[in-house]
Amino acid sequence: MIILGIESTAHTFGIGIVKDKKILVNVISAYKTEKGGIIPMEAAKHHAEVSEVILNEAINLAKIRINDIDAIAYSHGPGLAPCLLEGLKFAKKLSEKLNKPLIPVNHCIAHLEIGELTGAKDPVLLYASGANTQIISYSAGKYRIFGETLDIGTGNFIDTFARHCGLGFPAGPKIEQLAKNGKYIELPYSIKGMDVAFSGLLTNLKQKYDKGEKIENLAYSLQETAFSMLIEAAERALAHLNKKELLLGGGVACNSRLQEMAKIMCFERGAKFFCPPNDLLTDNGAMIAYLGEKMFKAGISIAPEKANINPRERTDDVEISWK
Ligand code: ATP
Ligand code: FE2
Repeated sequence: MIILGIESTAHTFGIGIVKDKKILVNVISAYKTEKGGIIPMEAAKHHAEVSEVILNEAINLAKIRINDIDAIAYSHGPGLAPCLLEGLKFAKKLSEKLNKPLIPVNHCIAHLEIGELTGAKDPVLLYASGANTQIISYSAGKYRIFGETLDIGTGNFIDTFARHCGLGFPAGPKIEQLAKNGKYIELPYSIKGMDVAFSGLLTNLKQKYDKGEKIENLAYSLQETAFSMLIEAAERALAHLNKKELLLGGGVACNSRLQEMAKIMCFERGAKFFCPPNDLLTDNGAMIAYLGEKMFKAGISIAPEKANINPRERTDDVEISWK
């Protein structure tokens, strides 16, 4: 079986092709800005401009014919409405042209299920991306959110601070580099039950920067503080659920200090640590195709005229019939 997956929830337009659980290709084009954050309409325009090129590249690299595709999976939500709509439009057009059905995939669950390729069977997912920060796991018939950010996503928090200091977007890798030469200074640590919050930390970092604190020290302390919060919440989820596997997902999980902290926590409590390669951590079409294949095999598909999006889809809104 061959499934084509389309990702378009935010700044990335991606197409992945999966054949019998094997990723044949994973092509992306990411919309970037020199300064300022992501403008949803601009990102959507980017997706419309690159979609045909990315499709052709994916088909050629996969060495398949477009008619070999059995179904088309697309990101149904959550995400930015203009971006999701562009993905839907493209998916519908392809579905009509090839006369193949569509599969609506939840973006967050796709981040979790792709972890299977790394060997994870029943993990707690620490999903930290630009817009999202959630701790997700399967329990009592559904994927449930056990903890999440009460304000902004970890990546947006890092990017916003970095923008204040004149660094470009995305800033995660730059902050990671700067942190290598930094020293620890105390910052507010904000975790409420299973949830985290970043806005107080963000304000405090900006104030310290404006008062002349070295950016290296701020970058280092930002990582130590924000990532400790994430690891603490993830560890508590492992304990409460009595689970033995931690999986990382989302662009922020590319950070080697976050990975190191997660590894140490897992080692100390006898849990296994799983982390996909970077191209499967950040937004991508392969994870959409991968979960799409499982859903399709379980009988989930829709005709193009019935397809829609849900920008605010919650992980626990989704009926799980493929497990
Ligand atoms: P979503 O999954 O919520 O739709 P997104 O489109 O922002 O989010 P990702 O590609 O998963 O998606 O993540 C991008 C974020 O990851 C950016 O905020 C970026 O700064 C951050 N990031 C990337 N590399 C690193 C790194 N090495 N350290 C910290 N953050 C990083
Ligand atoms: Fe994502």
